[in-house]
Amino acid sequence: MSIGIIGSGGLGANVARVLAKKGISATISNSRGPASLAALIAEVGPSIKAGTVAEAAIADIVLVAVRWESLPELLSGMPAWNGRIVIDGTNPVEFLDPNAPKDPTNPLADWGIKAIDLGGKHSSAVFSEMVPGARVVKALNHLDVNVLAQTEASGGTRVQFYSGDDAAAKADVRKLLEAAGYFAVDLGTLDVGGPLAQLPFGPLAAINFIKF
Ligand SMILES: NC(=O)c1ccc[n+]([C@@H]2O[C@H](COP(=O)([O-])OP(=O)(O)OC[C@H]3O[C@@H](n4cnc5c(N)ncnc54)[C@H](OP(=O)(O)O)[C@@H]3O)[C@@H](O)[C@H]2O)c1
Repeated sequence: MSIGIIGSGGLGANVARVLAKKGISATISNSRGPASLAALIAEVGPSIKAGTVAEAAIADIVLVAVRWESLPELLSGMPAWNGRIVIDGTNPVEFLDPNAPKDPTNPLADWGIKAIDLGGKHSSAVFSEMVPGARVVKALNHLDVNVLAQTEASGGTRVQFYSGDDAAAKADVRKLLEAAGYFAVDLGTLDVGGPLAQLPFGPLAAINFIKF
């Protein structure tokens, strides 16, 4: 199956590194275009190709790895999903200006982020509305990228959660996570697993499990 990655920042680049270690092919893209990815491609080797967003977006499995506020513009310009798989790696947080005065009412100010109010919906429900016709699987969102980048730790295998409403799509994402070196744990449907693993307040958000 072909894999596309949209976003080459903390999440996208580190997922590319993880895939590259196992020789898994993927096309990675960002807003600045393929030339801006030369250093990353030189680092990770030939299994990862730099592409345009349009090239990454036609893959069988597309990881969306952009900030929440970038989603509406990005996802409004996508080709028809036609049942292709979209991995929602996002979290509904705003990244704060480090030089701005700290808001004492924001419990996440020390981490440089602020929760985005989704009116009581969980983020993958909102995300799914932006990718009509896609089979959405939530995954790769719950760990800091420095942790996520190491699939093995302390002699065990890093756990990655995934959730979704389409069994076949989940099976394909599970295979990908396992091929990438993770121990994949199914959290159920999007309505169940999404809020469990979603940052900032999901009970499994940022919890780092290792399978021995
Ligand atoms: N950082 C973490 O530890 C972490 C962990 C798990 C999940 N997440 C989630 O992953 C998502 C990305 O976070 P991040 O830390 O990777 O952010 P980031 O470092 O700011 O990277 C964002 C990436 O999105 C790209 N982008 C923005 N708008 C775009 C557009 N219209 N078309 C194509 N590419 C676009 C940017 O392109 P340019 O490079 O060209 O600017 C950049 O490569 C967020 O939703 C975050 O909550 C983050």
